[in-house]
Amino acid sequence: MNIAGTGLSGLVGSRIVDILSKKYSFENWSLETGVDITDKQSLENCINASSASWIFHFAAYTDVQGAEVQKSQGLESIAWKVNVRATEHIVELCQKSGKHVLYIDTDYAFDGNKKSYSEEDTPNPQGWYAQTKTEGAKRVVALGTKGLIIRISNPYRASPVGQATQPGKTDFVHKMLARLQGNQKIIAPSDQLFVPTFIDDIAQAIDKLVSIEANGIYHVVGSQAVSPYETGKIIARTYGLDEALVAPTTFAQYFKDRAPAPQYAVLKNDKIHRLGISMHTFESGMQQVKKQELQK
Ligand SMILES: NC(=O)c1ccc[n+]([C@@H]2O[C@H](COP(=O)([O-])OP(=O)(O)OC[C@H]3O[C@@H](n4cnc5c(N)ncnc54)[C@H](OP(=O)(O)O)[C@@H]3O)[C@@H](O)[C@H]2O)c1
Repeated sequence: MNIAGTGLSGLVGSRIVDILSKKYSFENWSLETGVDITDKQSLENCINASSASWIFHFAAYTDVQGAEVQKSQGLESIAWKVNVRATEHIVELCQKSGKHVLYIDTDYAFDGNKKSYSEEDTPNPQGWYAQTKTEGAKRVVALGTKGLIIRISNPYRASPVGQATQPGKTDFVHKMLARLQGNQKIIAPSDQLFVPTFIDDIAQAIDKLVSIEANGIYHVVGSQAVSPYETGKIIARTYGLDEALVAPTTFAQYFKDRAPAPQYAVLKNDKIHRLGISMHTFESGMQQVKKQELQK
């Protein structure tokens, strides 16, 4: 099957393409391939010329802190133009041509005041990045049977793209790992919870969801809720580094001068489990990351 997509050169997209290209052929529309998704005409040319039945729309303005300072610009902010308006255009063009759209939403859709969240829970995003992503997701939901949204959380993988040259495209695991390897301290909240997601599992889930022409929202997240402090410890243990470099702080202290984040972003993944999709715990995912990196 032919898949066309935006953001397929990003942290998540590039790994999805690595894994699924045995089965699907991919056409990548990104800045690197000369397509700016904020340019509607450019999108229209691509979508109308494509024979793909699915558009994997992964491109986004993903800088959470950068988005927050644009908040006062509202609909004129880059975050809105990329995350909402471009999504709106993709949805509109796909509706006309009868294509499916797959969109990736974030666990930041929730305010983090509840202990856990299912797909039925109503989003209440706090920061500007999260608000624009949630608005984008609403546009895709409006596609009905042709709109599929997966929510992921803190995706990680082996050897993230551009690790050395483009630090923005690395994952939180390799940011922490680089500090530990450089003998630098990590201070991370011990009273925050999230469900880090192994990107290889996202690829398997997407394969299944596409094969059954799924629509609506699915939480495609890891099977272990951990605090950022615990993830630091697990990464240190996995790579035989000094766990004592990882020190706890509180959620309130850590996020004092940062964009808002949910304190308890424990998304439940029962809905995909019922489809036979299993997701790694953070500890077992890290073992896979290390194994794959040793094989390189
Ligand atoms: N990473 C996370 O922690 C996380 C968590 C939850 C959800 N998500 C969602 O998952 C998806 C993938 O995230 P990621 O971490 O893989 O992102 P990423 O590494 O930052 O990559 C973003 C991608 O978007 C493309 N892009 C940005 N602006 C564009 C524009 N104007 N026109 C065309 N392409 C544009 C970039 O293209 P170039 O490479 O050409 O610049 C890049 O391929 C996003 O929708 C994100 O919101 C991410």
